[in-house]
Amino acid sequence: MALVIGTPKETYPGERRVAVVPATVEMLQRADAQVIVETGAGAEAGYPDEQYEEKGAKIAQSREEVFEKADVVLQVRGLGANPQQGKADLELLKPGQVVIGFLEPLTALGEMKALAERRVTAFAMELMPRITRAQSMDALSSQATIAGYKAVLLAAEALPKMFPMMMTAAGTITPAHVFVVGAGVAGLQAIATARKLGAVVTAYDIRPETKEQVESLGAKFAELGLETEEARAEGGYAREMGEEFYKKQREMMLRVVAESDVVITTAAVPGKRAPVLVTEEMVRRMQPRSVIVDLAAERGGNCELTQPGETVEAHGVTILGPVNLPATVPYHASQMYARNVANFLLNMVKDGELHFDVEDPITRETLVTRDGEVVHPKVRELLGLPPAVEAGAGS
Ligand code: NAI
Repeated sequence: MALVIGTPKETYPGERRVAVVPATVEMLQRADAQVIVETGAGAEAGYPDEQYEEKGAKIAQSREEVFEKADVVLQVRGLGANPQQGKADLELLKPGQVVIGFLEPLTALGEMKALAERRVTAFAMELMPRITRAQSMDALSSQATIAGYKAVLLAAEALPKMFPMMMTAAGTITPAHVFVVGAGVAGLQAIATARKLGAVVTAYDIRPETKEQVESLGAKFAELGLETEEARAEGGYAREMGEEFYKKQREMMLRVVAESDVVITTAAVPGKRAPVLVTEEMVRRMQPRSVIVDLAAERGGNCELTQPGETVEAHGVTILGPVNLPATVPYHASQMYARNVANFLLNMVKDGELHFDVEDPITRETLVTRDGEVVHPKVRELLGLPPAVEAGAGS
């Protein structure tokens, strides 16, 4: 019997993405899988049922049918990333069923236990190792790209100035100054987008190798003298630096922040609260009607005054704390995410059947629950469980 891959409609409030798009139906079918999609699952992202059907997917009239028939359930937000509505899905999951999606495995610990108790085999896209072979499966990066792009559009919309320089008969308009803090995936895309709109862009990151990347996009690297090799952690991520360091960084950044029309902050440390890099005092020093877009809002915020999901006006400055920006560009966010999950799943399909090869770091490092147990070492540690004897081994 062919492997059945199912996608339900997302139920998290405001979530408009979908985990399978018509193009990935084709990819999955090439591996001899059948695809079943809940009616309307792609509607908000711009993929009507008919487009899935044209590619050979079956449309299920109910969510129950998807969970009933699927061997593998593909979601954008699985239980941990959708704690309220996700509970209803828990009842629908069957032992041995595979669930793949964003699960927030390092924070939604109760939910990970619940998935294990349900005897589900759950894979968290957040845990994708940052190795070359996994780049096409790296959903955190694909979605961060979209967030970086959209952050610039939000800033441009909120700013009472234009971004580009213009020489017109009515005089010359000077370009907007944009400062991007954190030059990771989201930050680099924010730089590129702001440059395309004609802004003068300055950027900063504590990882020294970012200087060259920033400059290659036509932006200036703010030399604060604080960049350090010590800031580099595994997978290209940053390390937490301690309050003394951040205090110094804020002092060094003060001038650049005060001179900028727009500050876009993206600084993050995996598994930690985002560092506070823009204080209220720094906001006070900004020009009236300047704009801050804090992409770290969901992780506590890089700006002291950020409220997640809200727009705050303080000292004449507009501070945006957007959450789930990828869902505001659902067509392309879904296209990219769906390709990431399809590549990930196909990596485990051999001759039309699923094989969990835990020798493969891609499978091993993303596997959270299996055979009634939480198997991921880090998640076990956070739950206070002893190391597993043989973490998810077998096929
Ligand atoms: P992220 O979202 O965890 O962090 C964003 C950025 O904030 C990082 O560049 C980090 O260095 C920076 N940051 C942290 N503390 C800061 C501070 N105090 N001041 C200024 N900046 C600060 O990380 P993201 O964007 O997901 O990835 C970071 C890097 O990882 C990428 O730029 C890339 O080089 C590397 N990477 C490697 C991949 C691979 O090898 N397959 C895949 C994706 C990314």
